[in-house]
This record gives sequence, C-alpha cells and structure tokens, in this order.
Amino acid sequence: TAGGTLAIRARVLTYHAHPLIHGVEGSHRYIEDGLVVVRDGLVEAVGEAGELLAGLDPRMAVADHRPHLLVPGFIDPHLHMPQTQVIGSYGTELMEWLAKYTFPEESRYGDPAVSNAAARFLMAELLRNGTTTAVAFCTSHPQSADSFFAEADRQGLRMVGGKVMMDRNAPAALLDTPQRGYDESAELIRRWHGRGRLAFAISPRFAPTSTEAQLEAAGALAAAHPDLHIQTHLSENQGEIAFVAELFPWARDYTAVYERYGLVRPKALFGHCIHLSERERGALAEAQASAVFCPTSNLFLGSGLFDRDAALAAGLKTGIATDIGGGTSYSMLATAAEGYKVLALRGQKLRGHAAFYMLTAGNAEAIGMEDRIGRVAPGFEADFAVLDTHATPAQRRRAERVETLEEELFVLMTMGDERSVAATYAAGRRVHARGGTGDLPAR
Ligand code: GUN
Ligand code: ZN
Repeated sequence: TAGGTLAIRARVLTYHAHPLIHGVEGSHRYIEDGLVVVRDGLVEAVGEAGELLAGLDPRMAVADHRPHLLVPGFIDPHLHMPQTQVIGSYGTELMEWLAKYTFPEESRYGDPAVSNAAARFLMAELLRNGTTTAVAFCTSHPQSADSFFAEADRQGLRMVGGKVMMDRNAPAALLDTPQRGYDESAELIRRWHGRGRLAFAISPRFAPTSTEAQLEAAGALAAAHPDLHIQTHLSENQGEIAFVAELFPWARDYTAVYERYGLVRPKALFGHCIHLSERERGALAEAQASAVFCPTSNLFLGSGLFDRDAALAAGLKTGIATDIGGGTSYSMLATAAEGYKVLALRGQKLRGHAAFYMLTAGNAEAIGMEDRIGRVAPGFEADFAVLDTHATPAQRRRAERVETLEEELFVLMTMGDERSVAATYAAGRRVHARGGTGDLPAR
C-alpha cells in the first residue's frame, strides 16, 4: 500500500521529547504557518510554508487547513474492538462488569457478520476522532482478529491487534485451550503480522482468565517472536488483585505472575497499573515494559487513580488510552481531559503540552513505534489529525480569552471531542473529513 503524495498547510505542532523531562521549550516544534510535504505516505519535509512553497513542484496538490492545527495522528494504546456495544453498561466494578456484560457480548464475535461490522465501525470511529493507530484486543475467536486486520489493511492504517487468549473463568463460548491459543495466534501472526502496516500482539487477557499452562504457552509464543507486542491487564481493581493472589499463591505480587512466564519485556503493554507496588513499577521499568493509563475506564468502573508521578519516578514508560468499552469515549482529547482530572485527585498535573505529547510521541514510545509514528518529521509516516480549536459556540466563546498555545491546547482537550477533528490523514491519504466533504480547497 503506497501512500499519498501532497502538501498540507496548517499550524503544525509536533513533539520530539517529554515536556515533563526536557521542559516545554525543548520538547516541541510549532510552526504558525507551516507546510508538511508528503511523498508516498511519508513526511518528506516540514517547515515554514513561505519557504517550502517556493521550491515545491507546482503540480503538487496543497490541502490548505489554515487556521487549523495539524498534529500527529493520535495513538490509542489500549482498547477492545468487541466492546463498542458495552460502553456505559450500568452499575458494576470490573469482575462483575466482565461477567455480566462483557463476556456475553464478546461471545458473539465468532460470527463474521458481527466482527466485520464491529471492525468497520471501530476504524471509522477512530478516524473520526483523529486516532490513526490503536492497539486492540479482539476476542478469543480468530475470526475477530481477521476482521480487525482486514479492515485496517483495507484502509492502509497502522494498527496493532491480537486474538485474546483465555482458558478459564469465563463462559465456554469464549474459552480456548493452551494449545489452541498458541496455534491460533501463531497462524494469525503468519497471516497478518508485517503485512501492510499491521502488527500482531500476543494477548493473554489477564492472569485470572488463563491457567498456568496457558500463560506458559503465551510465554513460549512470546519467546518464539521476541519482537512482537504483548498486551494484557495488570492491577486494575482490588477484587481482581485478590483473585490473582488466590489463583497464584506462589507469586509475591501480580506482576510476578507475568514475569514468571516471560511476559514482561520491551513492547509488553500493561493496561491500568493502578495499584502497583514500588517493586512492581521497578520491575516493569527495568524490563522496558509500558504501563497504560485509561482514565475514563478507571473512573467509570471505579477502579482507582493512576499514579503518573510514581511511574515517571520509576522510569516506567506510560501511555494513555481509551480502553473502550470500560472506557466511555473514543476521543483521545476527552481521554486526556479525564486524565487531567484523575491526576488532579492525586495532586498531580497534566498541562496542555504534556497531554498532547502523551497522545502522540509519548504513546508512540509507549508502544515501541517511536521511529515511525507520533511525530511530524521527515521520514515519519504521514498520519495526522487536523484540529479545529473553535469547533463549537462554547469553544469560540472560550477562545476569546485564550492567550498562549499551552492554554489553547488545554482548553482543546478539556472541551474537545470528535467535532474538533476537521480531517484525519493516514499514510498521506485523507481518511476522514468532518461533515463528509471537508474544508479542503486545493491551491
Ligand atoms: N481486565 C480483563 N479484561 C478486561 C476488559 O475487557 N476491560 C477492562 N477494563 N479490564 C479487563
Ligand atoms: Zn482493557
């Protein structure tokens, strides 16, 4: 899938370092009248429009998005494709929520009509929200992963997904076995991993739904494929943690279960990580694994408050994600806004630049793809979100009193949602335009 070729004129914002570690000034590049030149799906040049337009091939199409703000496409490092129809399920915490709503829903996904429709909906909704890469759990049915990858491939998207491995403590319709989980995952790796922009993630759901034999099989698969992503859940909820202690009495803590089977390593993504001990944070950081903060989910399910500063202090890479459908919004803007509120309850802060770093370059680093996505820079893949900070009457009213870019970004995440996304590009092709046709006069 060769990508698009065009130039895009807009305000351009991109991050190359963590604002909380390197300072805001040293972390980003902002061009008030910028031009991004894209060739065959990759960024060729980024700079002042005045300078770059002069040397541009006059046949090159220019999409003029001024005065909107072009940022790298958002990256959502944790969500569940089969949970688009459980969002907002009432009244339970994690373990009951899984049993009462989520497992019955996921049981439908062996049917290709169900999983194909979900994959089509999910990709379209992500793009409407400016999200160009997601790391997704499918279900235990291989069919669900086929649907996910086929749709992502059809649209030329950089997507990571996995067939869930689970062999206990769930309805029979969702259970595989250690051998089947291994074989079906291995077959999906052969079929999809590395095709187009796709990557397969080894996906044991979480310790409570896998036997030791299955975790061992997941570890063997991981050892056979040392470069692959691993995704699972860790330390989300007190009931879950107590259950893990019962099921794995030999383990000193929850993280030790995954360590024992070789599942803690670079590109291993651990959803939630709310109630970790210092030992666990240190072990995850040491192994170069990543924690993924899911604020709308953690608030909705009453799971707890992620400790961002403890993760930073431990040197633990941290992403931020929607966790659809424990999470309640597809919007990474809304996710950042809820992240701010969670951190505020911990006495921590998330300013505009730090948030936009997390949604782009930070999440790229958290998923080990910082060399290809998450920045608007030469050689990077041309995945962009074009953001309108004046999308609604309330935002236009608020904007009258905005003075700095930092403030504009913070208000955008606080008040923004999919209405803020004027257009989305993937590999230099426009894959979403707000209102259908988009505001895209060519030069
Ligand atoms: N832990 C294991 N499975 C899940 C899931 O589907 N959602 C959430 N939020 N936590 C989990
Ligand atoms: Zn999850």
